[in-house]
Amino acid sequence: MAIERTFSIVKPDAVAKNVIGAIYSRFEAAGLKIVASKMVHLSKEQAEGFYAEHKERPFFPALVEFMTSGPIMVQVLEGENAVLANREIMGATNPAEAARGTLRSDFADSIDANAVHGSDALASAEREIAYFFTADEICPRTR
Ligand code: TYD
Ligand code: MG
Repeated sequence: MAIERTFSIVKPDAVAKNVIGAIYSRFEAAGLKIVASKMVHLSKEQAEGFYAEHKERPFFPALVEFMTSGPIMVQVLEGENAVLANREIMGATNPAEAARGTLRSDFADSIDANAVHGSDALASAEREIAYFFTADEICPRTR
C-alpha cells in the first residue's frame, strides 16, 4: 500500500458547530496523520480559485458564498491510500446519501453545507495542498 498525502477542509458549518476536534479524531482513529494544519477565512477570490472546476455549475455562487461565510480548517492528511481513505471517512457529498458513521452523515446538514472537503484523486490532492501550504509548512515524512 502506498503512503499518500491528501488535502482536507473542515468547512464553515462544522467549525461553527465546534466539531473540529471530533472530525480530527476520526482522521486519527482511521490511521491518518495530520501533517499540516491551519485556520483560514477564505476571500471570494480564494474560494472561486479553489473550486474553479465547478465554476459553470448552478451551485457555484452558493458554494463560494458558503465557503467564505466563516473560518475553515485546512489540513494535509498522510497515510496508506490517504486520498481514498479520507473519501470513505467523509461519506457521500449529499449527507442524506452518506453511509452511517461517516463525517457527512454525522456532521453535515445539507448537500451545500456538508462539513468537509477531501481531494478526489492524487493529482487534485497535490494541487490543493499547494493551493494552501508552502513546503515548509508541511511536516517532513516521519516513516
Ligand atoms: P463535488 O466535488 O461534486 O463534491 P465533493 O465535495 O464530495 O467532492 O462538489 C463540491 C461541493 O460543491 C460539494 O461538497 C458541495 C457543493 N455542491 C452543492 O452545493 N450542490 C451540488 O449539487 C453538488 C454536486 C455540490
Ligand atoms: Mg469534489
